[in-house]
Amino acid sequence: MNDNNTKKSGLPRHICIIMDGNGRWASKRFMPRQLGHKAGMDRVIDIVEYSSNLGIEYLSLYAFSTENWKRPAEEVNALMELLVVYIRNQLNSLKKNNVKIHIMGDKSALPNIARREIERSIKETENNTGMVLNLGINYGGRDEIIKACKELYRQVQNENMDIEKIDENMFSNYLYTANQPDPDLLIRPGSEQRLSNFMIYQTAYTELYFTDVLWPDFGKTELDEAIDEYRKRKRRFGGL
Ligand code: FPP
Repeated sequence: MNDNNTKKSGLPRHICIIMDGNGRWASKRFMPRQLGHKAGMDRVIDIVEYSSNLGIEYLSLYAFSTENWKRPAEEVNALMELLVVYIRNQLNSLKKNNVKIHIMGDKSALPNIARREIERSIKETENNTGMVLNLGINYGGRDEIIKACKELYRQVQNENMDIEKIDENMFSNYLYTANQPDPDLLIRPGSEQRLSNFMIYQTAYTELYFTDVLWPDFGKTELDEAIDEYRKRKRRFGGL
């Protein structure tokens, strides 16, 4: 679906999701947390496919934050393994659906195998023209802003650039989401109502949607509900 179609249907062009509640979902079932993450990965598969079919142009998922390294090694390893499993099992289907993979976050700190699979998935989907899937992996919003400042500072120095030329448009091109529209809708399942350092620059005017449903229970119906609620919102971007 192109820009005009999404405008007509009131569909958000860019949705971002903080996938929360995997651990609680597992605890409720007396299961280890890792199984909650596995169930969370199954929802990633469903929601990516459904969003792409709906005509969402950009889907950004918070899979692993810069703060998640503080979790026990066993859980960190399980999350990295799931990422590898996801790419290995889903790459063909993502290609078939014309999805383009983009990573937000510092890949250099990831285990070699995860980095290799990520690079492969980026390369094999680079010419796809359908939905862009932004995976936040070792991602932090503050980290992203500082990285952008450093790159911009280097450019200012190297090109002896006039700092008055820096504006919001230019700055946003140093973020992981360069050339992408800001998210229209942020969804956070799992009862918490905060941004947790996710896309904090890009979400300045994003509509926020919180639900008590835990991420492993968040399916197509729940996404439809969030989009319906978004359609009812009046977006003014600071105007009247
Ligand atoms: C937060 O739930 C979720 C995460 C830290 C990881 C999200 C990962 C996935 C959904 C699976 C893998 C993703 C991909 C893209 C393959 P939590 O563990 O903090 O839940 P809790 O608050 O109930 O403990």
